[in-house]
Amino acid sequence: MARNKIALVGAGNIGGTLAHLAALKELGDVVLFDIAEGIPQGKALDLAQSGPVEGFDAKLSGANDYSAIAGADVVIVTAGVARKPGMSRDDLLGINMKVMGQVGAGIKQHCPDAFVICITNPLDAMVWVLREACGLPHEKVVGMAGVLDSARFRHFLAEEMGVSVEDVSAFVLGGHGDTMVPTVRYATVAGIPLPDLIKMGWISQETLDQIVQRTRDGGAEIVGLLKTGSAFYAPASSAIAMAESYLKDKKRVLPCAAWLKGEYGVDGLYVGAPVVIGAKGVERVVELSLNAEEQAMFDKSVGAVKGLVQACKDLAAKSA
Ligand code: APR
Repeated sequence: MARNKIALVGAGNIGGTLAHLAALKELGDVVLFDIAEGIPQGKALDLAQSGPVEGFDAKLSGANDYSAIAGADVVIVTAGVARKPGMSRDDLLGINMKVMGQVGAGIKQHCPDAFVICITNPLDAMVWVLREACGLPHEKVVGMAGVLDSARFRHFLAEEMGVSVEDVSAFVLGGHGDTMVPTVRYATVAGIPLPDLIKMGWISQETLDQIVQRTRDGGAEIVGLLKTGSAFYAPASSAIAMAESYLKDKKRVLPCAAWLKGEYGVDGLYVGAPVVIGAKGVERVVELSLNAEEQAMFDKSVGAVKGLVQACKDLAAKSA
């Protein structure tokens, strides 16, 4: 059986880490694509040379032409620019929208059967633009945010309670931004819900509130420390978990920016929710029952995503 093919569009910090993880896990052969000449080729060669040491068999190559992504089973998109000082939200949207347009056209032409994972920010809007541009079925195009935001939440909880991260399970709902909704009621340690753990004295409400806020600010905290870039290790790990669930038909339940068609009262929008990822892509959206407070936070987050998508539509209309 031929190996799977994974195309990474964008060979920057996240793209390079994705390639490394995909190779280490032997998920398939990897193509790194970028507009910057030499970068994808150089990273691919460097990574390939780690193969004999690590003992993985995967072909790694770099390219500046979209024909290289032909026949990819999975495409993970990180192409774009980050917001720089002095750049407005609309400036950033305008630039990354154009990038998503080019990437979408490349996918449509060369690998229309792929499962596509978007990471480029602002995530919830960019995954919508990318889906529009590539025209693939909505269940084959998702955004990576929830696995990362939940991982941050799980890390902080595990650290606070002194337990293994493996035993902490948690979901984050809504958009990828400061309105995201970490679902405290559904977070557990080995099946024990957080509200019970508060009663058991494992964590205080006050500390939990601080962790929820730190999770919401998780990306900004890292930007503040790195100063010249944003997080890339955990974002890459998160997207690889999604790709692996698709390629191996694992049917993992992972929070992703998924196309909602009435779930949670949202119709026709990409918003973060837990979904089952298997060989058909997003196979099911898991609809949790939310209490009034959670629903209000979720609605606020959906409002923020709608605002971003509308800003994209306005920009597109202006440049048409
Ligand atoms: N086509 C292909 N690649 C492009 C294009 C384009 N039109 N425009 C820019 N790129 C490439 C850049 O050359 C760069 O190599 O995208 C890459 C982005 O890499 P980094 O700047 O290192 O960014 P990274 O940290 O990988 O994050 C990528 O993910 O989390 C989000 O906010 C983050 O939107 C950003 C994206």
